[in-house]
Amino acid sequence: MVNPFHYEKLPSAADFCGRHKETEKLTQLINDGKNAVLFGDRRYGKTSLIEHVFRDLPKNRLHAFTDLFACTEGQDVAVCLYEAVYAALPFNLERKLKEVSGAFSRIKLGLEMSSSGTPKLSTQLLSRDFEQLIEDALSGADHLCEKHGMTLVIALDEFQQVAEIKDKRVDAVLRTYMQRLRHVSFIFSGSKKSILSGLFIDRKKPLYGMATSIALGGIEPDLFKAFCEKRLGQLFETGVFEALYEKVRGQTKLILQTCYQLYANGDVTTDENVRSTLGGIIDEKEEEFKLLFNSYAAQQKKAIKMIGRFEGRRLYAEANLTDFRLTKQSMHQVLTRLIEIGDVAQLDDDQYVLADVHFHLWVIRKFG
Ligand SMILES: Nc1ncnc2c1ncn2[C@@H]1O[C@H](COP(=O)(O)OP(=O)(O)OP(=O)(O)O)[C@@H](O)[C@H]1O
Ligand SMILES: [Mg+2]
Repeated sequence: MVNPFHYEKLPSAADFCGRHKETEKLTQLINDGKNAVLFGDRRYGKTSLIEHVFRDLPKNRLHAFTDLFACTEGQDVAVCLYEAVYAALPFNLERKLKEVSGAFSRIKLGLEMSSSGTPKLSTQLLSRDFEQLIEDALSGADHLCEKHGMTLVIALDEFQQVAEIKDKRVDAVLRTYMQRLRHVSFIFSGSKKSILSGLFIDRKKPLYGMATSIALGGIEPDLFKAFCEKRLGQLFETGVFEALYEKVRGQTKLILQTCYQLYANGDVTTDENVRSTLGGIIDEKEEEFKLLFNSYAAQQKKAIKMIGRFEGRRLYAEANLTDFRLTKQSMHQVLTRLIEIGDVAQLDDDQYVLADVHFHLWVIRKFG
C-alpha cells in the first residue's frame, strides 16, 4: 500500500489539511490587491499555504513564487523579480519572451538549452544599478498586467534574507516602487520571525505598515488529528496525539513524518510507539545537528546546552549558571543575540526554545 503521508513534498489539494482561516484571510488580501506578511517557524507550512491559495485563484489573478534564500546582493533580488514575472505569464514560451522584451528595458531574457535538453531562461542585466532594475521589473510587471487586464501577486519567500544584504537598502527601494503599483501585490514570508518582524513591525523601518500580518502556527489540532487518524486507519489512544502535538509544538512536518513511520511500520498508535517513532526521527539528524551545534560560538553552545539540560527553563537560576560557568550578564548577552538572529525564541517569561523544533528536540535528547 502506498503510504498516505507526505512530509517532504508540498501537499496537493487532496493532501492539504486544515488552515481554513488562514486560507480565507490570505485569499481575501490577494483579491483586494493588498500585501501580506506570513510569519511562521520552519516546517509549519508557509510555502504549502501559499501554494494552496494560489491554486484556487481565478485565471486573471496571476501568481508567482520566488525564493530569496540565495540572494546575497540587491541585483539578485531584482533577477528573482524578473524571473517571477516571466514565470507567471500565462502564455507560451515565444509569446512570453516577446511580452517581457517589450515590458522590461534593463534585462535581456532569452532561452538556452540546459544539459538535460530542456529550454532554460537566460538573463543578462543591462544595468548594474539595483534601484533601476527593481523599478524596471516592477513597473514592467504593472504595465503587463494593465495591458492584459490581470493582476499579479508575487510571493517572496525567505524574505528575511533582504536584511542580510548590506550593500543596498532593499526594503527602502522596494517600498518606493511598491507604492506606485496598481496591479501587483506581494506576500512576504519567512521563518526568522524576529528579523522579519523587524522589517515590518518596527515603525522606523521603510516597510512598516506596508503589509498585513498572518501568523502561522500549527494546523488546528482537532482537524489534524482526524486527518491523521483517517489515513492511519486507526484512532490514537486517548491523549496520545495531543501529547505529540505539544511535544513538537504543533510542527506540521514532524507530526506527518511520525505518522508516516507509524503507518510504514504498521504500528499501533500507543503512547510508547509514538514516542519511540519520534525519537528515531530525531536521532536520524544526529550528524547534521552535530555540525549545526558546532557552528555556534563557545558561549552560544553553553546556552544551547543549558536549553537542552533544563528544557529552556530557569536559565538565569544561580545554580544552573554556575554549572555552566556563565554569569547572568553573559547569559543575557548570548540569549539576546540568539533571539536577534532568530535561532532562539522566548515562549513565556521563563522558557526559551530553539526556533527549529527538530533541533530543539535533538538538543533535549542530547543534553537533557
Ligand atoms: N496544510 C498542510 N496539509 C498537509 N501537509 C502540510 C500542510 N502544511 C505543510 N505540510 C507538510 O509539511 C511540510 C513542510 O511544509 P512547508 O514546506 O510548507 O513549510 P515551511 O513553513 O514553508 O518550511 P520552511 O520554513 O522550511 O520553508 C510540507 O512538505 C508538507 O508535506
Ligand atoms: Mg517554505
